[in-house]
Amino acid sequence: MNNSAFTIFGGTGDLTFRKLLPAFYNMSVAGDHAIERKIIIIGRRDYTTEKYLDIARSWVEKFSRLPYDEAAFKKFSARITYYKMDFTDISSYKTLNNYYKNNHLAEHIFYFAVAPRFFSVIADGLTNVEHACHGKVILEKPFGEDLDSAKELNIKLAGFFTDNNIFRIDHYLGKEMIRNIQTLRFSNPIFSNLWNSRYIETVQISASEDMGIETRGGYYDASGALRDMVQNHLFQILSIVAMEWPEQFSSEAMHDAQIRVLRALRPVKDIRETLVLGQYKGYHQEKLVKPNSTTETYAALRLFIDNERWWGTPFYIRTGKKLSSREIKIAIIFRPSFLEKAAQNILIIKVQPSEGVYLQFNIKKPGDTDEIIQAKMDFCQSDYVNRLNTPEAYERLMKACINDNKSWFSQWDQIELSWNFIDRLHELYKWENLPVFRYEPGSNGPAQADELLSKFGHEWID
Ligand code: BG6
Repeated sequence: MNNSAFTIFGGTGDLTFRKLLPAFYNMSVAGDHAIERKIIIIGRRDYTTEKYLDIARSWVEKFSRLPYDEAAFKKFSARITYYKMDFTDISSYKTLNNYYKNNHLAEHIFYFAVAPRFFSVIADGLTNVEHACHGKVILEKPFGEDLDSAKELNIKLAGFFTDNNIFRIDHYLGKEMIRNIQTLRFSNPIFSNLWNSRYIETVQISASEDMGIETRGGYYDASGALRDMVQNHLFQILSIVAMEWPEQFSSEAMHDAQIRVLRALRPVKDIRETLVLGQYKGYHQEKLVKPNSTTETYAALRLFIDNERWWGTPFYIRTGKKLSSREIKIAIIFRPSFLEKAAQNILIIKVQPSEGVYLQFNIKKPGDTDEIIQAKMDFCQSDYVNRLNTPEAYERLMKACINDNKSWFSQWDQIELSWNFIDRLHELYKWENLPVFRYEPGSNGPAQADELLSKFGHEWID
């Protein structure tokens, strides 16, 4: 075993069980050498490594992309050690340092899989760990809780780690179809030539989940859908869908193109024509949620990008928990044809659960008739074989971090611009006392989100 360690703070949390461990397991089964390092799981609970692995096993079984195999799990889990520690107690990092020393672990990656309010204390604690400052640090999103806290955190981290070693993760950037958007847009003249407001009536980005907040009430209730999903994942998608041709597919060029989109987001004037918030019924009964909480578990937005390409095309975004299905899709709705009977062309980029592209266009109905009907071409690439061969987002991104590749990580200026926008939305909706509409679990969210579009002659593509 080499002297490198991957330490996860928040090792008993939802993220570690649901995403990180299955990703590590997949990498291990795939024979990926990138992950041949010790995995130190930091948690407060009184577990032994054996007990921890018993719990971890069932999550890996349920969530890993590759079929579960007991022998493979045994081999993989031999790298894992559970280390009990209260990471908010600064003095405990000295003991952690001794543990690393005794086990000859000097090359570090630290993963902060905890709520953002704990990032700062962990960063402080790590100053007590030898070699930590030469290690890498991966920070889960959201980076901070608002712009001010994100700035403070940035300064703190910069005082200890070098910028090259800070990886701000947004796992949506590791999703197969999000990485496909540029290819689909720029390598197909049938799309690239029409990718502007002259031909596109609306763009709709939807990320719905059927799950509730599960065990994450403490974090989620202080966050809400705008901070948890929109500020990061959905703004990343928006800026990739709307960006200009990046001249080359380098990460710098792409990043600059994304930044220009975020800068061009039109400042919100009328919050009621911009935002609808919802909360699922029963949210107050979730663990660690305040009894009168008005935190939104659903948000729908109507945004504009003030540049020549997008002048006049609304971007509709929606996300929510406890909805009817788990699905992420990007729908491009083209402007109507002059032929009244023709339906609008629709292109849908399907991100999950199935991955692919759907295109709807008009044809003549076969037979002795002039009737126009819609052809619906549905390309699906996430069949069983492809799924086995395509790494999932966290696998890709962790491997990228181990290999020092920062291409698909969030950059500070993106985070800054997104927080700026989201903070302003928060201010406006608090000021205007915007209602948070209750919706039925298993529904499509509050009806008011439909009205946000119907007022302007549009509707969500479902
Ligand atoms: C996380 C959010 O970043 O993404 C969660 O904090 C959300 O609230 C999750 O459930 C969704 O990820 P995915 O990959 O399942 O779409």
